[in-house]
Amino acid sequence: MKTNRFQDKVVLVTGGNSGIGRAAALAFAREGAKVVIAARREDRGNSVVQEIKDKQGQAEFIRTDVTKGKDIENLFKIITDQYDRLDCAFNNAGVSSATMRRTVNMTMEDWDGMMDTNLKGVWLCMKQEIPLMLKQGGGAIVNNSSIAGISTEIGLSVYAASKHGVLGLTKAAALDYAHRKVRINAVCPGFIHTPMLEEPWKLNPQIKDLTLALIPMKRFGKPDEIAGAVLWMCSDEASFMTGREMVVGGGQTIHS
Ligand SMILES: NC(=O)c1ccc[n+]([C@@H]2O[C@H](COP(=O)([O-])OP(=O)(O)OC[C@H]3O[C@@H](n4cnc5c(N)ncnc54)[C@H](OP(=O)(O)O)[C@@H]3O)[C@@H](O)[C@H]2O)c1
Repeated sequence: MKTNRFQDKVVLVTGGNSGIGRAAALAFAREGAKVVIAARREDRGNSVVQEIKDKQGQAEFIRTDVTKGKDIENLFKIITDQYDRLDCAFNNAGVSSATMRRTVNMTMEDWDGMMDTNLKGVWLCMKQEIPLMLKQGGGAIVNNSSIAGISTEIGLSVYAASKHGVLGLTKAAALDYAHRKVRINAVCPGFIHTPMLEEPWKLNPQIKDLTLALIPMKRFGKPDEIAGAVLWMCSDEASFMTGREMVVGGGQTIHS
């Protein structure tokens, strides 16, 4: 069934050139949104834009590194000059470590890379998104956390810290702006079949089966299954929801 919940709305998807972000960008465009994709790899960004245009959708790619203040300024200058509004944002760009290492074996580079992208990047984007939404009288933001934002496994300390941080930031920002009609929620995906999930399998193929065994539904999630939750939280159907996380993980976390 095709609906048009986002007809002519301006929607930003960071990390929209791959995996979960790509699925969300395609889904927003299918429902009528003008989608702005922000990420670093231009070739992949342009190819998602082409996919959207081939289906008569509207999209553009703006090369952005969410860890760089100058790139963020440039991104929002373009959004402001071109549209002067932003209705929804999916702050999804993120990185993980391909190797699972215990806390003392993580390096400063691991810390800086994951914290800067997964947590500071979300905050830097929200600093620009919220004023645009306030100016137009409201908007909806979804931040991409993880099931590692509410529980964790051995070897994930820095990633889990960054994703727990995303949930804290989401709740605090939601409280700050609930009275001004800017809703801010988070999605917590379980194991979703994307390039990020495949990275550790390349180093150790056994990890695939070990991971699968942790999921009660005994299958990996699909990027579209996260996009569906994100679109719902951004839509008017979720108009009374703010400061909460939606877990989409095939039953994983039921035990914890
Ligand atoms: N897959 C899972 O099982 C899973 C589970 C829970 C949560 N998540 C979260 O879901 C989000 C998307 O991950 P994915 O699984 O879809 O992996 P992915 O396919 O590797 O996508 C990651 C995206 O983030 C972008 N990105 C990374 N660093 C960036 C930076 N500094 N500036 C701008 N964009 C950047 C990448 O684009 P460029 O490299 O071109 O910049 C890419 O589009 C991440 O936040 C991840 O932590 C994933």
